[in-house]
Amino acid sequence: MGGIPATLLLSLFFSSVLQGMCKDVFIDTKRASEVFIRARRANTFLEEVKPGNLERECLEEICDHEEAREVFEKPQPTKQFWWKYQGCNGLTLPRDPKSIKTLRSCLDASGDCSYEKGETYSAAVSTTSSGKACQYWSSNFPHRITEFNTSLDDSLKENYCRNPDQSPDGPWCFTRDPTVRRESCAIPNCDGPFVAVPPPTKVTVTIDYSSSTNCLTDNGKDYKGTLSVTMKGFTCLPWNSPKAKKKASGVEFLPNVVLDANYCRNPDNDTEGPWCFVDYPNVTMDYCDLDLCEDPLDSEVSVEQVRQRTVRPGPKKDFFSPRSFGNGEQVCGERPMFEKAGQTDSKEKELFDSYRKQRIVKGEDAELGSAPWQVMLYKRSPQELLCGASLISDEWVLTAAHCILYPPWNKNFTINDILVRLGKYSRSKFERGIEKIVALDKIIVHPKYNWKENLNRDIALLHMRRPIEFSAHIHPICLPTRQVAKDLMMVGFLGRVTGWGNLFETWSSSPKAIPSVLQQVQLPIVEQETCRKSTSIRITDNMFCAGFQPEENKSGDACEGDSGGPFVMKSPTDNRWYQIGIVSWGEGCDRDGKYGFYTHLFRMRRWMRKVIEDTDDDDE
Ligand SMILES: *[C@@H]1O[C@H](CO)[C@@H](O)[C@H](O)[C@H]1NC(C)=O
Ligand SMILES: *[C@@H]1O[C@H](CO)[C@@H](O)[C@H](O)[C@H]1NC(C)=O
Ligand SMILES: *[C@@H]1O[C@H](CO)[C@@H](O)[C@H](O)[C@H]1NC(C)=O
Ligand SMILES: *[C@@H]1O[C@H](CO)[C@@H](O)[C@H](O)[C@H]1NC(C)=O
Ligand SMILES: *[C@@H]1O[C@H](CO)[C@@H](O)[C@H](O)[C@H]1NC(C)=O
Repeated sequence: MGGIPATLLLSLFFSSVLQGMCKDVFIDTKRASEVFIRARRANTFLEEVKPGNLERECLEEICDHEEAREVFEKPQPTKQFWWKYQGCNGLTLPRDPKSIKTLRSCLDASGDCSYEKGETYSAAVSTTSSGKACQYWSSNFPHRITEFNTSLDDSLKENYCRNPDQSPDGPWCFTRDPTVRRESCAIPNCDGPFVAVPPPTKVTVTIDYSSSTNCLTDNGKDYKGTLSVTMKGFTCLPWNSPKAKKKASGVEFLPNVVLDANYCRNPDNDTEGPWCFVDYPNVTMDYCDLDLCEDPLDSEVSVEQVRQRTVRPGPKKDFFSPRSFGNGEQVCGERPMFEKAGQTDSKEKELFDSYRKQRIVKGEDAELGSAPWQVMLYKRSPQELLCGASLISDEWVLTAAHCILYPPWNKNFTINDILVRLGKYSRSKFERGIEKIVALDKIIVHPKYNWKENLNRDIALLHMRRPIEFSAHIHPICLPTRQVAKDLMMVGFLGRVTGWGNLFETWSSSPKAIPSVLQQVQLPIVEQETCRKSTSIRITDNMFCAGFQPEENKSGDACEGDSGGPFVMKSPTDNRWYQIGIVSWGEGCDRDGKYGFYTHLFRMRRWMRKVIEDTDDDDE
C-alpha cells in the first residue's frame, strides 16, 4: 500500500467523522469509538487501521513508534504517519483539547512523503519544485518522451510526479515549460526531515486576459522609443537615407507616424508591430523586439448569419506581386476535378449548411482530388512523413512553424532536410505520374513564433526550388481576404481539415491507427472565450480554435497528427476555397483542452506579403 490510504483515512477521520461531533472534541472516547465502529462497517478502507486506537493512542496521548505500528499494521503507512507525527510535534505537544486540534489539523494538512526514492509514491502532486506544472505522461507536448514507453507503466497516471527511472532526486515530471524538460518535485522523503508541504489541491490556472503590461497598443503605431536594432540583431537604416527611401518607394505610409532617425517604427500599420529597413545581404527589413498588446480580432467572430449576397463577384484582385509570389492567385481555390468541372464533393454541402445551422460530421476518407492544395512535408533521411502543408502558389508552400523548428524535440530543420510532395492521395504509395516531389531553397519561420510558451504565430513559408506545374491533383488554395475572414470566421461555421494523421510527429505518446489515404474532417469554429476557458495555455488572437464541445463526446478532431495542414472553408460568394487556418496544436497537448487550435491566417497575411516580397528583392 502506498501513502494514500493513510492520508485518506486521516482526512476521512478528521473531517467527516469528528466534525459532526463536538466543537472542542474528544471528550467522550467511548462515543467516538462507537462512531468509528459504525464507520468501519461501512468502509473497508477503515479495516486496515483502527482509527479509534489511533485517536486514543496517538492524539489524545503521546504514542511511541511501536504503538503507531500496531495501529497502522503495515510499515509504509506507519512510516508516513510517524514522519508527520514527529513533524507536527506529536511527541512533545502537551495534550489539551486545543493542542489536540492543532495536531490534528497539522497531520491533516501535511502532504505525503515518499519512501526511499519514491518509486511507489502515489499522491496526486503535479507541480515541480520551482512551481512548474507537470506535462501529462500520455502526451508528447511540449516534450517528447523517448526514455520509456509510458503506456507500459501503470504508475504513470495523469501528470503526477513519479519516479519511473529511479532518479536519486525522487519523484519528478516532464514540465509544461518547453524550455525545461524535466524537474524534480520537492516531495519530502519519509526518512528525511519533515517539510510542511501542503497536500495536493487541484490547481486551476487562470490567465488574466485583461491585464496588459508594457505592451504597445494599436500595432505599435504610436511607439516613440529609440530602439534601433531588430530581432535578428541588425542595425536599422535611417528612414531618410537613400537606401531606405529606395526600399520604401511605392509603399504607402501613414502620414502621422513620424520617422525619426533609425528608430523602429510602424508606418504601415504592420500587424507584427514596429520594424525598420536594414541593409544586409538577403534582408531588407526586420521586426523589432517589442511587445504588442493583443488586439481584438480583426474579423469579429460572432454568431450572426452570413448574408445572402446577390452581387456577382468581380475579377479577383492580386494581394501578392506575382513576381515574388509566383502564379496561382487568380486560379486559387477552384479545384480542377470539382469547381472547374462543375462538380461538388459529397461533403461540401455540409459546410454551406453550417453557415445556416450547425451540423456535426465525422472524419473520413477525402475524395480523390478534393484537396489538391494538400502538401506532404517529408523528411529526406530517414524518410518519413513530418507534417501537412498547403500549396499557396506555384512557388510557395505554407506550414506550421513547429513542423520546422521545435527545440524541445531537438528539431531545427534546414532546406536540405526536407522535401515537399504534392498531388498526393495515398499516404505511403508512390503515386507515379501524379505526385511531384520538390526540393526547397528557402524556409522562413515567423520571427516572432513563440515555441517557448504557446506556439503563438505558428507559421512558416517554404519556397520551392522550382515552380510546380498545376494539374488536376495539384492546385493552390486561396489566402483569406478581409471580407472572407469577416464573412466566414463565425462561431459554428464548419471548416475542413485534411491530413494523413501522421505516425511520427504526433503530440500524443499513444500510438494511433494510420490511414492509408488522405483524411478529412469538418469542424465548427468555436468562440474565442470558450477556447480560452478550455485550456491552461495562453491563447492569443493569432490563434482560433475549432472542434466539438467536449461534452458532446464526438471525436473527430483531426488536429493531433495533422500539424501544418490547412483548415479551409468555401466561400459561397465566389465559390472558391480559402485557407483560414494552419493546424497548430490541440488535444493531447493539454489534456484539459479538447479543441484544436489553428494559426489565424488572415492575421499573418501582411507578414507573408512582406517576407515574400523581400525574397524577391534578393533574387535581383
Ligand atoms: C508501448 O507499449 C504499447 C503497449 O504494449 C505498444 O502498443 C506500443 O507500440 C509501445 N510503444 C513504443 C514506442 O514502443
Ligand atoms: C491598423 O490596423 C488595425 C488592425 O490591425 C486596424 O484596426 C486599424 O484601423 C488600422 N489603422 C490604420 C490607421 O490603418
Ligand atoms: C543570400 O542568398 C543567396 C542565394 O539566394 C545565398 O547564396 C547566400 O548565401 C545568402 N547570403 C546570406 C548572407 O544569407
Ligand atoms: C537552427 O539552426 C540554425 C542553423 O542551421 C541556427 O542558426 C539557429 O540558431 C538554430 N535555431 C535554434 C532555435 O536552435
Ligand atoms: C458522453 O459519454 C458519457 C460517458 O461515456 C455518457 O454518459 C454520455 O451520455 C455521453 N453523452 C453524449 C451526448 O453522447
